Amino acid sequence: MRKQIAAANWKMNLTYQNGEKLLDDILDANIKLSSHQLAIFAVPYPYLIMTRSEVEDEKNYYAAAQNCHHKRSGAYTGEVSADMLHSIGINYCVVGHSERREYNGETNAMLADKVNLCYENNIIPVFCCGEPLAIREEGTQNSYVAAQLRESLFHLPAEKIKEIIIAYEPIWAIGTGKTATTEQAQEIHHFLRTVIADQYSESVADDIPILYGGSVKANNAKELFSCPDVDGGLVGGASLVAEDFIEIIKALK
Ligand code: 13P
Repeated sequence: MRKQIAAANWKMNLTYQNGEKLLDDILDANIKLSSHQLAIFAVPYPYLIMTRSEVEDEKNYYAAAQNCHHKRSGAYTGEVSADMLHSIGINYCVVGHSERREYNGETNAMLADKVNLCYENNIIPVFCCGEPLAIREEGTQNSYVAAQLRESLFHLPAEKIKEIIIAYEPIWAIGTGKTATTEQAQEIHHFLRTVIADQYSESVADDIPILYGGSVKANNAKELFSCPDVDGGLVGGASLVAEDFIEIIKALK
């Protein structure tokens, strides 16, 4: 079975102390993950080492960065490179979140560079794609997300792209309380898998976890994750509340 993943994205929330307490509360629930299940915590940079050490004795729990820079190193004040993340033992990094695309002008070409730097540093990208409301209303979401994959990922050889995690996050459902219906989620996840299969092969497409992100909550996770092509979630708001994220982890297939 391909990997099923509950990924928390704390974004720019929580103090260090509150973050540590949240992790403790989640880990205290003692949810044993099966070999195909992962729980990943994408936390602010200053909390990465703490998070990594909190989860290091837990099977299949990992810390992730929320971003890395698209250049290898150099005079980029305030930025963090993939190599730096690797040097503190980080194995996952969110790449191309819609908030970074919107507020930091990240383009598909820059994201291709970030993805390459992640692979060079043994970091698995959690690559985000997804359409804004206007595109959904126009009905052109499929070609929009296909272009995001093509321009940022399809230069990768099969053995690399097989390792990636994709998160489909409809921008109109992020932080709005509006969730895609299970039919909408299944339909576009299936479409993304078809696009990957056409470019690579069915077996590559079958191996790649595709997470749904956009108002995943404790009370809708089970239904969303039950879709055959939805392999878990990338969760914002509900990942900040221990009881809610615990239920979301438990909802994994
Ligand atoms: P919400 O779960 O708060 O809608 O956020 C989704 C998201 O952006 C996760 O990366």
